[in-house]
Amino acid sequence: MCEPITMLDIFTCLLGALFFIFIGFRPPWQPKKLQDFRHKEVQDIPGPLSLPLIGTRWLFTIGRYQMSKIPEFYKDMLRKYGVIFKEEALYNVPIISVVERSDIETVLKSTGKWPMRPPTAAVAKYRKAHPERYASTGLVNEQGGKWHFLRTSLTTVLTSPKTINDFLPQMEEIADDWCHLIKQRRYRDGRIDHLEELAGRLGLEATCALVLGRRMGFLIEDQRCEVAEKLAQSVHDNFVACRDTYFGLPFWTAFPTPNYKKLCESERNMYEFASELIKTADESTKDSAVFQSVLGAHIDEREKKSAIVDFLAAGIYTLKNSLLFLLYQIAMNPECQKKILEDTTKTYLKACSMETFRLSPTVHALARVTDTDLVLSGYKVSAGTVVLCQSALACQSERNFNDAKAFKPERWLNEEKNQTSATAAYLVTPFGYGKRICPGKRFIENALPIVLEQMVQKFVITTERPLEVVFEFLVSPKEPISMTFKDRT
Ligand code: HEM
Repeated sequence: MCEPITMLDIFTCLLGALFFIFIGFRPPWQPKKLQDFRHKEVQDIPGPLSLPLIGTRWLFTIGRYQMSKIPEFYKDMLRKYGVIFKEEALYNVPIISVVERSDIETVLKSTGKWPMRPPTAAVAKYRKAHPERYASTGLVNEQGGKWHFLRTSLTTVLTSPKTINDFLPQMEEIADDWCHLIKQRRYRDGRIDHLEELAGRLGLEATCALVLGRRMGFLIEDQRCEVAEKLAQSVHDNFVACRDTYFGLPFWTAFPTPNYKKLCESERNMYEFASELIKTADESTKDSAVFQSVLGAHIDEREKKSAIVDFLAAGIYTLKNSLLFLLYQIAMNPECQKKILEDTTKTYLKACSMETFRLSPTVHALARVTDTDLVLSGYKVSAGTVVLCQSALACQSERNFNDAKAFKPERWLNEEKNQTSATAAYLVTPFGYGKRICPGKRFIENALPIVLEQMVQKFVITTERPLEVVFEFLVSPKEPISMTFKDRT
């Protein structure tokens, strides 16, 4: 005799159905196409195995990928899963990567009134725990109205053409001093074995001159400035600790892991060394438009110091890396040095710099939190999802640039210029895009060609070693870097 169906039976059946729906089971009679049509949601985006709670972060700790080779990891993801793939962070929060030009454009264009870039969570945690120093998590990490207030209060002068134009004569002097330092430090055959050390000094000197308004003397051969060296070291340590807390297993959210402690120490040091530099500001600092604009801003006093810390931290290391990548490309392409010397319009210099940013950006991907629901490569991605625009990967694709892996400054000039610029609009974005774009962009875009021009006028630059890169939250040239600088006669 048949037993009557009980509530428990119904509940069990429902639970079973839910389980199959949850794991994405497709009955054999259901065509795959139909399933794809119904299920093209974020959870269907392909990607590596995600574990409960820790998502895909295990890959960099017990998996086969190294945090120092994150760009290689993303290359591998593209190879395995295609132009859209998914990682998962703590609590299985999805992070979608897009490589297709149209998807990158969609994401960057639809970020709303106050674009959101996901904060570096460990830095935000540290700063929130120190209200005596930080009134907020700072311009780089804040969101929404608070970010907008900081951005308008703190960066208007830094981004203005007048500020940068007024700074250019000083930048010429800095470039000249750097060339002089190279002459003093090279061996008889012109070789320098640790160019990164000198490039770091240039990054410090130029960024401090712009932000603090005075020459610090970091380019004087025998002068050592302990505070500056420690500041540069702390900035480096801070980037590495950001990488390790971001890509590693997220235990630091529960207790202070060694990586989190390193991050705290570097944050503390950056703050203290920057405070020291600010404290010793002398008369000349009064002329600094940037420094004075920060000090005069109508904001909480704590925000002013943390803005200076953030400007120095954001500028020093990025400038060093970008300069090294640029010099490397020039050293590998002697015909470009000739063209720089022949070109009186200086457009070739800028083209070399753009081409280096296309091939070797120090920031390999742009992160955004989507503001509206989007469709990316056919998948529905709802508002509030973290998306990484994989611009470096897109820039290396033949679908976007002919002979994509070759260094060809000419693509930015003459008849090729329009085509390149149209494709590059959302892809060659070394300083980011839109309202959240790097406020140091104008400074760097002017400073790098100045340094390059002086270098090429004074030296024949060559290198024998291929340049490897290492990921330290920024893509950096692997040290030591050796190049040869022979006097140009
Ligand atoms: C070669 C040098 C540099 C590169 C490649 C670079 C790159 C970037 C990138 C990619 C972003 C993210 C933008 C976005 O999400 O759309 C950014 C943000 C930022 N950069 Fe730079 N940067 C450089 C130099 C500088 C300098 C010299 C300063 C300051 C003096 C600076 C200050 C900042 C700040 C404060 C932000 C956060 C902006 C915001 O969220 O509103 N950067 N930078």
